Amino acid sequence: MTQPLPAPDFTYRGGELFAEAVPLARIAADVGTPFYCYSETALRRNYRDFASALTNLPASICFALKANSNQAVIRTFAQEGAGADVVSEGELRRALAAGVPPERIVFSGVGKTAEEMAFALDTGIAQINIESEPELRLLSAVASSRGATARVAVRVNPDVDAATHHKISTGRKQDKFGIDIARLGAVFAEAATLPGIEATGVAVHIGSQLLNLEPYHAAFERVAEAVRELRAAGFTVTSLDLGGGVGITYRDEAPPALDDYAAIVAETVGTLGCELVFEPGRALVGNAGLLASTVLFVKQGGERPIVVVDAAMNDLKRPAMYGAYHAIVTGREPASAETAEADVVGPICETGDTFATARPLPPVASGDLVVFGSAGAYGAVMSSSYNTRRLVPEVMVSGDRFAVVRKRPTFEDMIGMDSIPDWFDAEPDRIARGAA
Ligand code: LLP
Repeated sequence: MTQPLPAPDFTYRGGELFAEAVPLARIAADVGTPFYCYSETALRRNYRDFASALTNLPASICFALKANSNQAVIRTFAQEGAGADVVSEGELRRALAAGVPPERIVFSGVGKTAEEMAFALDTGIAQINIESEPELRLLSAVASSRGATARVAVRVNPDVDAATHHKISTGRKQDKFGIDIARLGAVFAEAATLPGIEATGVAVHIGSQLLNLEPYHAAFERVAEAVRELRAAGFTVTSLDLGGGVGITYRDEAPPALDDYAAIVAETVGTLGCELVFEPGRALVGNAGLLASTVLFVKQGGERPIVVVDAAMNDLKRPAMYGAYHAIVTGREPASAETAEADVVGPICETGDTFATARPLPPVASGDLVVFGSAGAYGAVMSSSYNTRRLVPEVMVSGDRFAVVRKRPTFEDMIGMDSIPDWFDAEPDRIARGAA
């Protein structure tokens, strides 16, 4: 049994790639490719590892749904005791539908609408994180108009560089997130005057795929200092939301040990006596999922062979969007260690639809199954139907069982969403004449 991906639940057994005890080829034959596949065992293990690192802290773990909002995935974590971090009414509805109790849900995000706020308040969720004064004032208006009180955490921008990809770094002064930490006291002072607002929390999230703990240390220190200042000014602070961001292995990265992360939390904010909220996404789902695809053709490129697969950038956007690396392995265990460089691309008519350039690969041929690793986070959730390609389905495996947890839509489902204005029927001549 060999482990070709940074995930213990996806292994070669008898020369074939398995998800737990199910051969991926069997799922492919049943569901067709491309499809996402999640290991329930890996999801639960990731959650338990995260939770056990935090056992000595007063911690609530709110899974960041943005990383993977499939109902089956949310339900898995809910059964483990997780709450949810949501960023839209849609995600809030998903969390509730999957069985997450409202009192374990926090609502983050830089731009909530009045309708979303109203829905969140009516639902009775635990906390709404606000990121600006105008948002705080709108929330006050919405809450007081319904006779409700919103429990609020103010998200600060601590001006810390998370040293991750520019597009997912969120805690630098120039980033759009949070409120400048220097203005936190003024915002708490305003919050105290506003009806329908009970501001007793501070939130921070400096970025995603962090591989180094130092930025956390710096950010949490600043938050601790800010809390002491708030208290000295007479405000009550009972909860801290420390965001998500812990990185995973895509290639050969060494993510921080969760115990070391927990130690930094304990050292920086552990003595403040606050309830702590964590919002991990990627660390819980990233390596519990893969994307399976079939090789359509191997064509001769100008510089090297080009492997055209039936998955594309609409199914897994991260390589096109961030230049992200995903391991690519074959469904059949390679007979030897021999590799040759190839580009791996999807069928979409743009050069950005490239999963890998000059990647050493074992020999592959048309019809072979290939798998993209570490695709459980920000994979299916970021997929689209660009090029009128059907939205990629999702499958969950548990032991020797598997189930489709999001089906592939039909072409009728997709095309049926459009409609043609009724005046086209009323004026057929005009259309026929070219709308002169
Ligand atoms: N909390 C907040 C407020 C966030 O903005 C995020 C992620 C998280 C928690 C969860 O972070 P995680 O533990 O997953 O790193 N699409 C990008 C990642 C975007 C992350 C956005 N915020 C990617 O594919 O890498």
